[in-house]
Amino acid sequence: MTPSPATWTVATAPGRLPLIGHALKLRKGLLAFVSSLPAHGDLVRIQIGPWWAYVICDPDLTRQVLFDDRTFDKGGPLFDEGRRILGNGVLTCPHEDHRRQRRLLQPAFHRARMPAYAQVMSEQTAELLDGWHGGTVIDVPAHMHTLVSRILARSLFASDSVGPASTLVEESLATILHAMYVRLLMPSSLTRLPTPGNRRYQQALDRIHTAVDHAVQDYRSSGEEHADLVSELLAARDEAGRPLSDTEIHDQILTMLAAGIETTATTLSWALYMLARHPDVEERLHAEVDTVLGGRTATWADLPRLGLTERIITETLRLYPPTWMLTRTVTADTRLGGQLLPAGATVVYSPYLIHTRADLFHEPGRFHPDRWRADNTARPPRHASIPFGAGSRKCIGDSFAMTAATLSLAGIASRWRLALPSGRHVRPAATAALRPHKLRMRATRRGPAV
Ligand code: HEM
Repeated sequence: MTPSPATWTVATAPGRLPLIGHALKLRKGLLAFVSSLPAHGDLVRIQIGPWWAYVICDPDLTRQVLFDDRTFDKGGPLFDEGRRILGNGVLTCPHEDHRRQRRLLQPAFHRARMPAYAQVMSEQTAELLDGWHGGTVIDVPAHMHTLVSRILARSLFASDSVGPASTLVEESLATILHAMYVRLLMPSSLTRLPTPGNRRYQQALDRIHTAVDHAVQDYRSSGEEHADLVSELLAARDEAGRPLSDTEIHDQILTMLAAGIETTATTLSWALYMLARHPDVEERLHAEVDTVLGGRTATWADLPRLGLTERIITETLRLYPPTWMLTRTVTADTRLGGQLLPAGATVVYSPYLIHTRADLFHEPGRFHPDRWRADNTARPPRHASIPFGAGSRKCIGDSFAMTAATLSLAGIASRWRLALPSGRHVRPAATAALRPHKLRMRATRRGPAV
């Protein structure tokens, strides 16, 4: 039940300094700072330089914001920069454009499309693993980034003719995603200076835009239909029978890449890390994949029997939600948690903050995939699990991501074991996504050679 407004507490986070506000605290330990906020209130004000924001610390208030996307519209520094890069795609567009865009894109993510995407996922996982050599130490996030980039590039563009475009996209995207976060913490005047960093960023943006334009032109001129996302976008018609314009298609493609690659790759990297730190879970996973797959990579048909693999992904998304902090802009004066928020105010919601609340998750710091078992009577409350957001702006790629992560993890575990150099702890680096900082693991072949 939603508590009455009188029971909400609104506070300003402690430790604020003149002029810079909480900037120093954020720089010193962003995640620890964010996790400490629920102790102060349900809605907590923070200040970074001249910028103020309200951080939501309660799952019911989070839902109130996410389910009223007219009053709490996409906005704030992350989305403003996102719009500059991705244009007006479904991730960054304002409420007034969203319904049309979402309806046009939804068919491409229909469950009926998933088996075709799953085939790409299985093939790409097998191809990646064929290139691994026993005993080598690998940069896990880099390998997962490559895997998911290829999965997404191939799901978008099945045609062989656009191979070079997807490679360019893969290379440029890492530069762009990193720079996006750095730029969030810079005054906007500095982002326009002709520094080497700004030039690299602009060049990466230009390359990616050109690559996507060429790929779309290629599709239009060949007239061939493929079982892929771009063909779906080209065929889509709105209620008035209008297709998406070239600019709209371009923006949607960039949006899928930006929203889908880093998030899914990060999830896989953390899952592999958690398995190495929890040999009991790893052993059970190996038993599951050995029974179901027997040394091959996983397919769509295997999914119903990969229950533990899926729970490992779900638990990883709880502990390390890649999109760990997101913003909204208030479009009209409104009340939230009893507090009057003026139009223009910024509201922050954080899956990470909600997922680590001890009153919602028993032993929140513990990696415990079985908390998600259907027969667990102490299963966490549904509304407290928000790795994909909620409401009408909820992730459109949630099933795609869960399928990709589950099939890839099962495929990897079926053939390889990844171990950490002894005693190594890896910290999360809270950039635009919650990435593992320097995660290197030793790969050993499992079972009979395949
Ligand atoms: C584990 C992987 C993923 C996670 C954790 C994730 C998380 C999220 C979250 C939290 C949102 C809501 C953002 C907000 O409230 O402001 C979102 C939106 C979105 N995601 Fe994902 N995502 C993942 C994978 C993907 C994939 C694979 C795709 C595409 C193939 C994708 C495409 C999108 C799009 C287009 C939106 C905007 C939806 C809308 O506003 O209607 N995501 N994602």
